[in-house]
Amino acid sequence: MSLIELKDVSYAYPGETKLVIKHLSLTLERGWCLVVRGDNGSGKTTLFRILNGLAFPVEGRYLFDGTEITEKYLGVSRNSKLFHKRVGYLFQNPDIMLFNGRVFDEVAFGPRQMGLSDAEVEMRTKDCLDLFGIADLADKAPYHLSGGQKKRVALAAVMALNPEVIVLDEPFAGLDGKTREFLGGFLAELKESGKTLIVATHDDRLQEALADQVLEL
Ligand SMILES: Nc1ncnc2c1ncn2[C@@H]1O[C@H](COP(=O)(O)OP(=O)(O)O)[C@@H](O)[C@H]1O
Ligand SMILES: [Mg+2]
Repeated sequence: MSLIELKDVSYAYPGETKLVIKHLSLTLERGWCLVVRGDNGSGKTTLFRILNGLAFPVEGRYLFDGTEITEKYLGVSRNSKLFHKRVGYLFQNPDIMLFNGRVFDEVAFGPRQMGLSDAEVEMRTKDCLDLFGIADLADKAPYHLSGGQKKRVALAAVMALNPEVIVLDEPFAGLDGKTREFLGGFLAELKESGKTLIVATHDDRLQEALADQVLEL
């Protein structure tokens, strides 16, 4: 069974008739990397919202590990916790993701939601801050950070849950060369370690390095 399966999925925003996603079918195997390309407005972010259970097909089906992801299914708190633990989502704009007063709490938020013990939360959060080179920012307010720092914090918050699938929406957008390099290396390691990646990017080198499969919207 494929990990991710879209079957003839269409989507229109509420109150609109225009289909933003039209009859899209797609399968993705565990450990594969799908690169999603397409001009601005082609539906990349909309597709990612569906894959992350933040929007639901108006037609067709989305199966994750054999389970259909619907509003009703995710309406059950146990299901939604499990799903969001397995699928992590890095938004294009980290400002939308960051809402805690301290970087430490931002990264600790997911593990706390998962009901881990205080000691486990502390350990995981510290590991993640170290991994992304942001341990020195632990007590800072996320909204005071630079764009590149915010991206690291947002990614650390995603990785703190150790998801199987990581969905990244234009992760290079607005980043300086050094942070791009770091992020590109990190994504290659994730792939190496067997994670399933879904990445929207216009970057040919990143695609070259990662893609097993390419979807052009
Ligand atoms: N909240 C929304 N309400 C209505 N239309 C939207 C909304 N968000 C995006 N759209 C429209 O959906 C289409 C696809 O947008 P989007 O998924 O953001 O594309 P991309 O990420 O590829 O730039 C665009 O035509 C956009 O205007
Ligand atoms: Mg987008």
